[in-house]
Amino acid sequence: MNNHHSSVIVGKASGSSRYDPVVHRPSVKVTGLGHYVPEKIVTNADLAELMDTNDEWIRTRTGICERRMADISQSTSDLAVEASKEALRSAGIGAQDIDLIVVSTITPDYYMPGIGVLIQDKLKAPPVMALDIRGQCAGFTWCLATADGYARLGGMKNILVVGADLQTRILDYSDAGRNTAVLFGDGAGALILRVDQDAQQLATVDNTVSGLIDHELGSDGSGCLSLYVKRPGMMAGKERFMTTQDMDERSTVPHMDGRQVFKHATLKMESLVRSLCKKHGITPDDIDVLIPHQANFRINEMVRGKLGLPHHKVVNVIDKYGNTTSATLPLCMAEAQKDGRLVRGKLVMTVAFGSGFSWGANLLRW
Ligand code: COA
Repeated sequence: MNNHHSSVIVGKASGSSRYDPVVHRPSVKVTGLGHYVPEKIVTNADLAELMDTNDEWIRTRTGICERRMADISQSTSDLAVEASKEALRSAGIGAQDIDLIVVSTITPDYYMPGIGVLIQDKLKAPPVMALDIRGQCAGFTWCLATADGYARLGGMKNILVVGADLQTRILDYSDAGRNTAVLFGDGAGALILRVDQDAQQLATVDNTVSGLIDHELGSDGSGCLSLYVKRPGMMAGKERFMTTQDMDERSTVPHMDGRQVFKHATLKMESLVRSLCKKHGITPDDIDVLIPHQANFRINEMVRGKLGLPHHKVVNVIDKYGNTTSATLPLCMAEAQKDGRLVRGKLVMTVAFGSGFSWGANLLRW
């Protein structure tokens, strides 16, 4: 590890009280973590009763043993609100203290508006901006980076970042949909980020100050058709944004070229970790806890192996929850906090890849 980044001192616009978001980078650190998964457990054996699949195929190809399914009385925003309440409690603040909501979902309650405003309303948070991010499985990494960026605008103390998805209502539980239906589950996770405009020191890879350090994000739209839900939408050549014919043609369920996604995910997740490490003069070995997206245990094992990391440094919860899309990273954080791996001072990297293609990684000191 080199010392290029040791003790970054927060700058103030010299000789002027004017706020300069470039010079004046605040400290942004995690002070609260919450998660929620629905009670109902759906095992691989349960799915085998609905379609031509079996426990052995699902376990060996994906590492998934079971996933959670939301109750019919629940919407995506309800899952998000449960996780948010826990995050608020653990941060020791109330909903009235929230200054910004940033949420990732690909399964909103309504086509419009997004779920940010519903979370704001259900929590009885102040009328702050509630921003939905469409980053698919990489969405939570984009939320963290977006929150970090907005923090530089000033005037904010607490930012609620949420990832929530309710996939089980969009999946095709027939033989035709078996390559995607077995992968996904429902869940939500949330973080409270505390913004300190007057911090004397920012988090770096060389000190033990808690906070977000850096992010690397990207996308490649040429991969869109490798994993997408076609309808409803405003596609050229279609007069209505959805018809009954769309249902008959299975246009409203996810379509995935699993092998393409697998190949790109392994390559991109490894290169993201390496590139963010290189930028900060560290190696993957220096990471204490790697939190990868949970799409397939084999993807995460390949990435772990290529990076040369021991098992205990890489968090996986896919066996219990499947792929919960926007919620995988905070669900992993909750698990790692529970089992003692995630404690203050640990150097953490998240890394995710998904539909779009979209990807992201966050480097932070817990
Ligand atoms: N149960 C039993 N058999 C299944 C099945 C299921 N649920 N789903 C697919 N199969 C069959 C296929 O029909 C195929 O049969 P065939 O050889 O007779 O044609 C066979 O299994 C192999 O299918 P294939 O798609 O090549 O399997 P795979 O080894 O690539 O594994 C995935 C499939 C989906 C598990 C894997 O490609 C994957 O995880 N990809 C990445 C997915 C991902 O990351 N998605 C989310 C991104 S955020």
